[in-house]
Formats: sequence, structure tokens, C-alpha cells
Amino acid sequence: MNRIAFTLNGQPREVVDASPNLTLLQWLRGPAGLPGTKEGCAEGDCGACTVVLVEPEALGGPAYRAVNACLVLLPMVHGRAVYTVEGLADGDRPHPAQAALIEQLGSQCGYCTPGVVMSMFEACYRTDLDEDWKLDDQMCGNLCRCTGYRPIRDAARQVAGTRPADAFSAALAEARPEPRALSYEGAGGRFFMPEDWAGLWAARAAAPDAVLVNGGTDVCLRITKGFEVLPALISLEALAPLRALEAHPDGSLFIGAGVHLSDLEAFARDHSPAVERMLRFFGARQIKNRGTVGGNLCNASPIGDLAPIFLALGAVAHARGPGGARTIPLDAFFTAYRQTALAPDEILEAVSVPAPPAGDVRVVAYKVSKRQELDISAVSAGLWVRLEDGVVAEARFAFGGMAATPARAARAEALALGKPWTEATARAAAAGLDLDFAPLDDHRGSAWYRGTVAKNLLVGFFLETEGGSGAPRLPYRPTGTVQVVAS
Ligand SMILES: Cc1cc2nc3c(=O)[nH]c(=O)nc-3n(C[C@H](O)[C@H](O)[C@H](O)COP(=O)(O)OP(=O)(O)OC[C@H]3O[C@@H](n4cnc5c(N)ncnc54)[C@H](O)[C@@H]3O)c2cc1C
Ligand code: FES
Ligand code: FES
Repeated sequence: MNRIAFTLNGQPREVVDASPNLTLLQWLRGPAGLPGTKEGCAEGDCGACTVVLVEPEALGGPAYRAVNACLVLLPMVHGRAVYTVEGLADGDRPHPAQAALIEQLGSQCGYCTPGVVMSMFEACYRTDLDEDWKLDDQMCGNLCRCTGYRPIRDAARQVAGTRPADAFSAALAEARPEPRALSYEGAGGRFFMPEDWAGLWAARAAAPDAVLVNGGTDVCLRITKGFEVLPALISLEALAPLRALEAHPDGSLFIGAGVHLSDLEAFARDHSPAVERMLRFFGARQIKNRGTVGGNLCNASPIGDLAPIFLALGAVAHARGPGGARTIPLDAFFTAYRQTALAPDEILEAVSVPAPPAGDVRVVAYKVSKRQELDISAVSAGLWVRLEDGVVAEARFAFGGMAATPARAARAEALALGKPWTEATARAAAAGLDLDFAPLDDHRGSAWYRGTVAKNLLVGFFLETEGGSGAPRLPYRPTGTVQVVAS
């Protein structure tokens, strides 16, 4: 099919001649004539461009998901339903999210307002806003320069989880996955979206140099910030096997590479508190609604936040190519700066986490950044020990931001093995980090700072899990933005 077909505010739309490098935001504000959606940063940081996609296969059932239109390429919405701020009012009657913002005086210059409304729109129909931090997290990707956040907070609180019995609730109840296979060519560019393995291998054969993309939260920056032209792209987001998300009776997990981070966060709440803890301090809701597990690992950034905790959990990467599938221990997956062990014709299909062994296992994830929320890690860590009679029988200490790749600390682990798990052991192991790493030295942190933080995290891990608290949950903290209405 050589046309991009989707619904926009409930109306069918088709596009035949757009460049696959055109963002949804550019198309909305340009050819579609809908300038309500604003552009601020064009890199996923400000939320001015927030629109909503229907996600028919979200964990827990069809859901509205707020996303940054500046990080969505137009062909990515093929087969999807898109809503913008222009599509919410019912004639002259504003949507409850809009009405609440008016009532609470939550808009001054109005530049951020459409994006704020769209994040509130997602909040309106969410069924899982049962804790304060979740609505805080929902709204934190929308910056406002002039109103001040209190009226916005009050408006969001007013509508969150209310799920009005309106056309949007009805549309959600009826949402079904639509066919999404696409082989598109326009304005000199190509975009493939296969729905099965045969289609993927055919696309790769047809365009061997095509850039793979899933959520696009990393790849799109090459276009919007790097001003690159990517002549061919292969989207993985319609491949059903990549969306697998399974918790097995023995406690092992199987997580498809295409699972969105917001779904993983909700899933991890029941199955891996350490993964949930890391995702709490990942990017904003809009980023987690598009970003995927596979994109984070395959980006192979030394400061990608999922790698350390998955390394600590002993995860295994599942690769697949035209010749078949194979597994790669995650500690052999990152081979050099932004390089992985995937062969050129392979993709990452999933990552699996083995069943936790019986006995005294302790695990935690840490992210240290200049700002607590919405910032890039200076240092991150995934730390795991198994104790037998109080003695360290197994240890996996993994760090991000300490080397060219996320990596385990072999010397530190060796210094802990066979020793009683005490503060003295943790401190001795921490000293070994000096032999494991020659940390990065850049604007996010000097080598001294990173080395010191990493050691403190290892000692902090001992202290935080002392007494067998296993996998501690995040302590309660007063939320900066909103309180949740239980619904
Ligand atoms: C504003 C903002 C905030 C962010 N905050 C954080 C943060 O706090 N922590 C963090 O770690 N990251 C953060 N990121 C980075 C990014 O969101 C994550 O890395 C995300 O998980 C990427 O997933 P994606 O599906 O969007 O990747 P994409 O952009 O689709 O792909 C990323 C890379 O992986 C490759 N790829 C994707 N899937 C596969 C696959 N299955 N097999 C093989 N290759 C594949 C692509 O070719 C590309 O090279 C942020 C990004 C933005 C824009
Ligand atoms: S324009 Fe700022 S997040 Fe898209
Ligand atoms: S109302 Fe002006 S930026 Fe928010």
C-alpha cells in the first residue's frame, strides 16, 4: 500500500506524497491546516506538541496515549487513530479537560495549553491513576512558562480518571487493532512497516541500509535535531511478537523489544520493583508512551537507563534474523560505544529475565542525575546479590555512565563473592570500582564525581537492603504537581 491511512479526530485521512521524514507535528501544522498543536523544542522535552494516539493493544486494554508529535513520523500513524486539540470539543461545548483548564484559570499566553489539554485528556480516560505520583508523572512532560503550575495541577486533578460517558469512551471501548502493514514511498523516501517476519526480511532485503525504528524517540532526533535525511526506514512497531509481555509461574519474565516503557512500568510494578523504580525516573509520560525496551537497549547508549538493571537481573537478549533466532547474554550484548552484538541482519526480539533463585536475593536500581525528574543519568546502577547464610554467593553489579558501554563491575563483584554481606564488604567491593572503570569525564559529571557516586551507590545498596528488604520500593515522597482522584 503506497498511502498512509489513519483517522484524525475521528475522520479518515490519507496521505500519498509526504516525505517519510516529515513529523506528524509538521504535517498537522502544515498540510493538515491544524496549527493548534504547537512546536516548542522539537525534541520531546516541552510537551507543546502533545497529541493523543489510540493504543488498542495497551496493557490492560485499549487506551488513549499522549505522545510528542515532534517525535512521531507521519507514516508511523498508519492504521492508527490520532486526536489533536482541535478534535475534543463537542460543538461549542469544550471537552471536560478544556473546561477544567478554563475554570481553574490554567492558561495565560496559551502556548503550552493545547499540549497540556492533551495530557489531561489521557489522564481523563486512565483507569490506573491510583497513586499521587502517577498523575504527577502524567503531567510532568508539559512545560508552562507563564501560568504557573498550581492552576494546571488543579485542573488535571479535577478530570483525572473521571472517564466521562462520552463519544471518546465509546470509541475506546470499540478500538481494535487495525491492519498496519505499509510499504510507502513518497518525496524520495521509503518507509516500511511489516506485520510479520517474512515482511521484515523482505523489507530488509529491499532496503539493506534502512534505519530500523520502533518508538522513534531516539531516531527522530536524528531528523529534528541532527537535520539528517533518512532515505529509508523500517518500523518494527507492527510486529506482534515484539509486543509479548509475559510473567511465568516461576518468576521469569519475557519482555518483547517493542513493549512501550509505560506498559513495562505498569507490568513491573507487580513483577520487578527494581525495573519499575528505574522507569519512575525515566523521561516523561509522552516519551514512555512511545519509547520501547528494544529501542533503549539497541541504542546502546552508555547512559541508557534500562541496561544496568537488566544486566543486574542476569537478563538475556533474544535476537532474530532471517537465519533464525539466538540468545545473547546481556553482558555480552554491548560490545563498544553504541555498538551491540546483533549481526547486521538481526533485530532484538525480546529480553528475558531468569526466575529469581530461591533464598535471600536483594536487588535495586539507581539513577543519579542533576535533576531528579526528566534528566539524563550521570550514573545509573543495577545491583543484585544472592546470599547464603549471610555470605555473598552471587553478585552482579552493573553501571551506566561509567564506561563506553553499560557494564558489569567484575572486580567489585569478585571482591564481594564469598564474603559476609556487611557494610565493610560493600565498601571493599566499592573500592574495586576504581579498577573496573575509568569513568567518563564530561559536562554531566567529572570522572571523580562519577566514581564517587558509583561507590556510594554500592554502599547505599547494602544499607538500603540491610535486614533483607529484598527489593525496596521507592519511599513515598510528596508529589510536586498533583494529587490523584481515586476512581
Ligand atoms: C525527551 C527525551 C527523554 C528521554 N529520557 C530518557 C531517559 O530518562 N532514560 C533513557 O534511558 N532514555 C531516555 N530517552 C531516550 C529514548 O526515549 C529511549 O532510549 C527509548 O527507550 C528508545 O526507544 P524507541 O523505541 O523510541 O527507540 P527508537 O528511536 O525507535 O530506536 C533507537 C535505536 O534502537 C534501534 N532499534 C530499536 N528497536 C530495535 C530492535 N528491536 N532491534 C534492533 N534495533 C532496534 C534503532 O535502529 C535505533 O538505533 C529520552 C529521549 C527523549 C527524546
Ligand atoms: S515540540 Fe517540544 S516536545 Fe515536541
Ligand atoms: S500558558 Fe503560557 S506557557 Fe503555559
